[in-house]
Amino acid sequence: MSGMQPPLQTLAGYRRPRAGTQPEYLHPPYKSSVKRAPAQPLVLLPHGLSEVTGPSFGLESGEAVGCDLTRQHASPPLGERIVVGGRVLDEDGRPLRRALLEVWQANAAGRYRHEIDQHDAPLDPNFTGFGRILTDDEGCYRVLTVRPGAYPWANHHNAWRPAHIHFSVFGPAFATRLVTQMYFPGDPLLAADPIFNCTADAAARGRLVSSFDWDATVPGFALGYRFDVVLAGRDATPLEPGHGLEATTSQTVGPFFSIGMDGLKLADLAPPGVGGERVSVGGRILDGDGQPVPDSLLELWQANAHGRYAHPADTQEAPLEPGFHGYGRVATDADGRFRFSTIKPGPVPGPTGAPQAPHIAVSLFARGLMKRLVTRLYFPGDPRNGSDHVLGLVPRERRATLVAAALEDGSLEWNVVLQGTGETVFFDC
Ligand SMILES: [Fe+2]
Repeated sequence: MSGMQPPLQTLAGYRRPRAGTQPEYLHPPYKSSVKRAPAQPLVLLPHGLSEVTGPSFGLESGEAVGCDLTRQHASPPLGERIVVGGRVLDEDGRPLRRALLEVWQANAAGRYRHEIDQHDAPLDPNFTGFGRILTDDEGCYRVLTVRPGAYPWANHHNAWRPAHIHFSVFGPAFATRLVTQMYFPGDPLLAADPIFNCTADAAARGRLVSSFDWDATVPGFALGYRFDVVLAGRDATPLEPGHGLEATTSQTVGPFFSIGMDGLKLADLAPPGVGGERVSVGGRILDGDGQPVPDSLLELWQANAHGRYAHPADTQEAPLEPGFHGYGRVATDADGRFRFSTIKPGPVPGPTGAPQAPHIAVSLFARGLMKRLVTRLYFPGDPRNGSDHVLGLVPRERRATLVAAALEDGSLEWNVVLQGTGETVFFDC
């Protein structure tokens, strides 16, 4: 197999963000970040096949281009109808076609359709506040919705979130995954919002604010707002200073992400018939006080048992498995517990071209995390763990945090500690 590998230089990674253009994990004015931000430095993760591939969703998986949040119930929702549209691009300005967007938002009164939203504002029986869209051939998307209301939150005295729409974007690769929020121009609450202000670079913050758009405004019907989303570009195409775009700033998924993200939950990655050794993995997510994190989401990305990713960037000759896409998504419960089942992946080439130990790439999203945490799950007792390039980058005494434990019943246990004693290793991806 290794003789058939593409040369390493074809696996150019993705660009890293310019300093200040993405938030830090710890931002004390945003209180939820204090016990959830990792305290240990991130380990720089060189991009290999596991990072330049990623889950893809297409028209064939039933997704649609364009969505309308105002026609999901018997009657139209209350509020000011708006059209939100724009393009999803990479940093070189290339449109990303068939990128999948998940959007979710509060209703016009500033209330989420979510059991933990206790804001004393009316629910609207005609508004769910969720949509899923694929970009078209030009990277364009368009959402018809109502303008969300501002809402209070418990972060500090008289705290109000500026009106916003949450965006989750799947780009071409695991490395380009982005969750962010879109704001509205001229909102006086922006200046006082700890989440918006987590990002140091003012221009990067400003790009989270949509622009009023006459061209998208529909006469007699709805005002238009433009919001472009930029994902990291390939490292192989050097940018001249001052040219090109910069990847959109990440924002937290917040506590209400299930409205937008439940639809693509998948806890059983390998349906019957998919070849490989079956594994069941369970664990807990814990914060810096050892408390469970009940509002977090794990996304999983892995190769099949032959060590092949279901992604066009994986040009190995190993076979694909019909029905196995390598994508999973699970949320934690009230005790911070999660569980998923899959097959143990085969070894895939790493950043140096040498085979890596079998592993699952993991993104962790939560309230309090301004950007996802990236980590990896390795398998206990695998002899290849000792020679794995990425594990070798991790301080020896911390490597065990990335390796699941085998339980007597044959399942695997893997706990994730966000901060403090036993803190899990997280990567700068
Ligand atoms: Fe929100």
